[in-house]
Amino acid sequence: MAGPKDHFQIDPDIARAWTLPSALYSDANIFAQEQEKIFSRTWQLVGHASQVAAPGDFFTTELAGEPLLFARGGDSKLRGFYNVCRHRAGPPAEGCGSRKLFRCGYHGWTYGLDGALISATEVEGVEGFHAEDFALAPVRTEEWFNLVFANLDPEARPLRECLCELPKQAEKFPFANMKLFERRTYDMKCNWKTYVDNYLEGYHLPSVHPGLNRELDYNAYVVEPHLEGFDGNGHQRCYGYVRQFSPIRGAQSGDATPRRYQETREDLTTDYFWIFPNWMLNCYPDNVSLNIVLPVGPERTLAIFEWYLPEKDHATPAAKASVEFSEQIQIEDVAICEAVQKNLRSRSYSRGRFSVKQEKGVHAFHRMYAEHMSR
Ligand code: FES
Ligand SMILES: [Fe+2]
Repeated sequence: MAGPKDHFQIDPDIARAWTLPSALYSDANIFAQEQEKIFSRTWQLVGHASQVAAPGDFFTTELAGEPLLFARGGDSKLRGFYNVCRHRAGPPAEGCGSRKLFRCGYHGWTYGLDGALISATEVEGVEGFHAEDFALAPVRTEEWFNLVFANLDPEARPLRECLCELPKQAEKFPFANMKLFERRTYDMKCNWKTYVDNYLEGYHLPSVHPGLNRELDYNAYVVEPHLEGFDGNGHQRCYGYVRQFSPIRGAQSGDATPRRYQETREDLTTDYFWIFPNWMLNCYPDNVSLNIVLPVGPERTLAIFEWYLPEKDHATPAAKASVEFSEQIQIEDVAICEAVQKNLRSRSYSRGRFSVKQEKGVHAFHRMYAEHMSR
């Protein structure tokens, strides 16, 4: 087999490095390890602040197989809990909405918005029973940029530290003033890493996305990996993100169809941020889209896309056009990812090499991945 023997060895020098072995893209045992070593230990995007805007607002979701509940308390503080009743594991909350308290769907124990057990009926005579010992188990929860994050690892570093330079680079986009315009889910027959790998390079733009390629300046496309906090020795948790950006190319003479942006401006960029391991923020001057990549099985992944625009723009044709434009790109990406997924199983292939110029982002991802998995 070509390349290093150790599956989780990625040379820090891209010029010498080989890609992750293809076996890691379809193995059920690896998939289970990823849930434990990656998805249960990193900050995961679980929702948007608008879902829990007012005291009493709550929503439920799942993260790495764990049922979770997020609620805004009477004190306006957002808290996360395991959505598991401390009696006999019934569901304290379902769906989303607004409540003063949560009532378990099994025997009716009630919990406050802060997770405290308020009442347990008919527990008279239970020896040594103290309500304060039976609060809902908390989950680390933080907010940034109108987004809600959770981390199942009680020892995790604070979210802000893990985001490194991202807030500085992303906060120039007016995401805070935008509202959800549309949400679409794509069910893909590929491993989550196949999809992330593809996202992390612009190398495939000319062949896979001719439409997008017209709009971006391929030669000015920059890939900027951020591996701060990454010391490679396995002691410190490795976090990081990759920024890809390109100036927007306005109208050109000889255009057969009109471009979405008329002027070429140096300060006008599209910034694509991918944050380890599985979420992306695509920032355009007039809209922001969010992608969450959810592994469902070794060779099945959901991509959840959400488009955000200023509310005043929701009724405009440009809003629909932005969604249709990304939808077209997504259809092209899904097709190539599913073709690659099938080929990764070929006996003829195990590991590849990186383009030093074009695949810095994929290389950075493989390093972060290997670092987490070899722990
Ligand atoms: S399991 Fe919740 S009240 Fe019994
Ligand atoms: Fe693509």
